[in-house]
Amino acid sequence: MSSQTPYKVLCVCLGNICRSPTAEVVLRHFCDKQQLNIVIDSAGTSNYHPNKAPDGRSQQHALKRGYDLSTLRARQLKAQDFIDFDLILAMDHENLFNIEALLTQVQTEYGVSQIRAKIALMSEYDQTYLKQALPDPYYGGEDGFERVLDQCESSSLAWVTIFKQQFKQQTDVK
Ligand code: 4NP
Repeated sequence: MSSQTPYKVLCVCLGNICRSPTAEVVLRHFCDKQQLNIVIDSAGTSNYHPNKAPDGRSQQHALKRGYDLSTLRARQLKAQDFIDFDLILAMDHENLFNIEALLTQVQTEYGVSQIRAKIALMSEYDQTYLKQALPDPYYGGEDGFERVLDQCESSSLAWVTIFKQQFKQQTDVK
């Protein structure tokens, strides 16, 4: 990553209306706070809610912590995302599996050399929730939405540490 070209991160869950929009805004908040040149987006492995705003419960709980999700709109993960993004973060293991399956198809169709994205769990380096799923809050109660926020904040802080190390290494070898 150069100082001009932003590093691009895509957060992915199932519906793109609860977990990944929350992850997008929380991760952006912590990256911006550290003035990291990173662009963040989100998508869903399903196309259940195309162009929908985030779930009202996700919006309400996020807003209580100062995160505004209102302008986001859901979209499905697509082949071009593996070409455009540097890092795709899966919110749980099922989505990780489905992202990897789509990656295999995209590699076959476009060629391995076209693929830019690395794939990892949102919780990959988070010592508090290490490699744990971000539980789907959609069919559950209010506490599920708070858990999503707690875990997104914790995992985002862990990613910021990783990104700072990556950026530093790249600056050092210049
Ligand atoms: P998300 O939650 O994957 O965190 O956006 C869900 C939203 C909708 C559905 C499932 C999960 N749904 O089945 O419609």
